[in-house]
Amino acid sequence: MRFSLLRHYHHLVQLPKLSFMASLTTQPPPPSTSQEENHDELLCSSGPTLSEVREDKVEEKGFSLGQPNGYLTGEARIERAWAHWKKLGRPKLIVAPMVDCSELPFRMLCRKYGAQAAYTPMLHSRIFSETEKYRASEFTTCQEDRPLFVQFCANDPDVLLEAARMVEPFCDYVDINLGCPQRIARRGNYGAFLMEKLPLVKSLVEKLAQNLEVPVSCKIRIFPDLQDTINYAKMLEEAGCSLLAVHGRTRDQKDQKKIRADWSAIREVRNAIRIPVIANGNIRHMDDVHSCLEATGAEGILSADALLENPALFAGFRTPEWVDEGEESCKDGRIDQAELLVEYLKLCEKYPVPWRIVRAHVHKMLGEWFRMQPQVREDLNAQSRLTFEFLYGLVDRLRELDVKIPLYLKDSTNT
Ligand SMILES: Cc1cc2nc3c(=O)[nH]c(=O)nc-3n(C[C@H](O)[C@H](O)[C@H](O)COP(=O)(O)O)c2cc1C
Repeated sequence: MRFSLLRHYHHLVQLPKLSFMASLTTQPPPPSTSQEENHDELLCSSGPTLSEVREDKVEEKGFSLGQPNGYLTGEARIERAWAHWKKLGRPKLIVAPMVDCSELPFRMLCRKYGAQAAYTPMLHSRIFSETEKYRASEFTTCQEDRPLFVQFCANDPDVLLEAARMVEPFCDYVDINLGCPQRIARRGNYGAFLMEKLPLVKSLVEKLAQNLEVPVSCKIRIFPDLQDTINYAKMLEEAGCSLLAVHGRTRDQKDQKKIRADWSAIREVRNAIRIPVIANGNIRHMDDVHSCLEATGAEGILSADALLENPALFAGFRTPEWVDEGEESCKDGRIDQAELLVEYLKLCEKYPVPWRIVRAHVHKMLGEWFRMQPQVREDLNAQSRLTFEFLYGLVDRLRELDVKIPLYLKDSTNT
């Protein structure tokens, strides 16, 4: 079961227009044999599995899994939503959910550089509830990995609840993905394709809100019509959603590089509902964070694509692309993406993930470096079996070739 889902994603990696992974498609590795593919599915190191962490956690905190939280209505529910958010410290800078990319080592790296909360990648609720192997490789966490949103796609309330109960001791929100616009989501009847099935969406949210101890959050895209978006957000709030992340693009606006997110629509949603709202879309550096918070009035922001290239974004670092020529206030931050990659690899040694995920991050973090030394990228693509030794050596080789691309730090008053 697990492998069939992963095969879908591999397929998507090859087809830029279809996938969240589109940005990872520049110079994809050559087609590999099925044996080689399997190697990319293996974990890159050994470490505790979820069930091991889980036993500790349940014992330590005396959690009773699956007890209803005493379903609240009206004012009490809004108060609870805010009390929970405040207890978490009202995180503003949040790592967005990213299939195959917002996994534990990457989240921990972003947290080190200023992220105040993070989402897991979207997990498939049915496969998660049925398959231990999928759970072990696709969801890992650790005590420092908080606040954490665990995101599921779903179309059956009972199945979603079963999956959610397995993760609730380890997270601060169970999140429902209502925004995935890809063909795989149309076929699987989830994500943004549930925008046509609002009674089903309502039943998913109600099921979790009535039965979980942790609050439910949702991540949506906007409708082309503002009033439809507002009605949608109100329906989610009434159904028991405690926090809403709004990606300011419609289901058809898949080209995130070309189409700007509509921050004014996010502001309208924020003004129309009473639970915390998080804004998403077009956050490439800290100036964007400040402008977005001001334009939307949101509690916080999510960043996805830009963090993949620059996991230190929330600490104020920016890639040269976002430094204007002669900008006085920007200086070499004395850190670069190769160093961040080394830190990431060390985290992968500690917290195992499948090699395909490691490979994807290497391409994202060193994309510009490879453009200067394409031979190094070709050598990476030729490796059907990655090792940490090879990857550390690859960074050394780029340094020996004298590739230097600093990350810049803006005057601290502006970060
Ligand atoms: C590689 C990648 C994977 C993604 N996977 C998910 C996902 O699992 N769940 C989800 O809700 N959104 C996913 N997204 C969408 C992002 O969370 C975010 O909504 C979108 O990229 C817009 O934010 P940005 O402008 O900061 O990139 C993904 C995006 C990228 C780039």
